[in-house]
Amino acid sequence: MTAHQHGPLPTHQHAPLPARLRPAEPGDHAAIVAAVRTWWTDRSPAEMRELSLLLPKLFLQFFARTSLVREDADGVRAFLVGFHPADHPDEAYIHFVGVDPALRGQGAGRELYEAFFREAAAAGRTRVRSVTSPTNTRSIAFHRALGFRLQDGDGVGPDGVPVHKDYDGPGLDRVCFLRTLTVTDD
Ligand SMILES: CC(C)(COP(=O)(O)OP(=O)(O)OC[C@H]1O[C@@H](n2cnc3c(N)ncnc32)[C@H](O)[C@@H]1OP(=O)(O)O)[C@@H](O)C(=O)NCCC(=O)NCCS
Repeated sequence: MTAHQHGPLPTHQHAPLPARLRPAEPGDHAAIVAAVRTWWTDRSPAEMRELSLLLPKLFLQFFARTSLVREDADGVRAFLVGFHPADHPDEAYIHFVGVDPALRGQGAGRELYEAFFREAAAAGRTRVRSVTSPTNTRSIAFHRALGFRLQDGDGVGPDGVPVHKDYDGPGLDRVCFLRTLTVTDD
């Protein structure tokens, strides 16, 4: 009888999960709220908590199929929450987007938006809308790079951007974006 060999314990090395873009699921809500509470590094914890209130569970309960998540072995790394409004059958709306700060500037935001555009066009939507705060210069630059036009408003914000005054309530001015979707054969 041969002596039992005590070798090193077998290691179960898993290949890292490939990063993938997928439709969101209702179960992503907690991870998305946690992301909003940590990724906005230029804001205080209280401000990030306030920001996360813009994403109550209903967005993932009722609009997960039109929302997108980019995840890898570390979990959710980027997300887009958007929907195809019943009241405007030719439009799609992007409510919120976020990219992990460690992943910014590498095309993750563009990838989310372009996937949303494709899905919206396939569903017969011809325009996409979104809004942001006049002080969010990063968001304004991002939307311009993604082909959005800034809609004329009734005021002017920093850098001369057109502003819709009191859009979301007293003192809550917004910049309104509109992008037309081009119908392609692919
Ligand atoms: C805005 C945000 C989603 C952009 O995501 P990202 O993955 O860094 O963006 P991308 O790398 O895909 O860049 C896409 C385009 O936007 C432009 N862009 C992105 N961030 C920019 C910035 N801070 N300043 C200027 N342009 C910017 C890029 O130049 C790029 O243009 P190109 O593709 O023609 O080269 C990300 O910075 C973020 O999560 N910010 C915090 C949350 C936020 O402000 N959300 C918007 C609220 S509506």
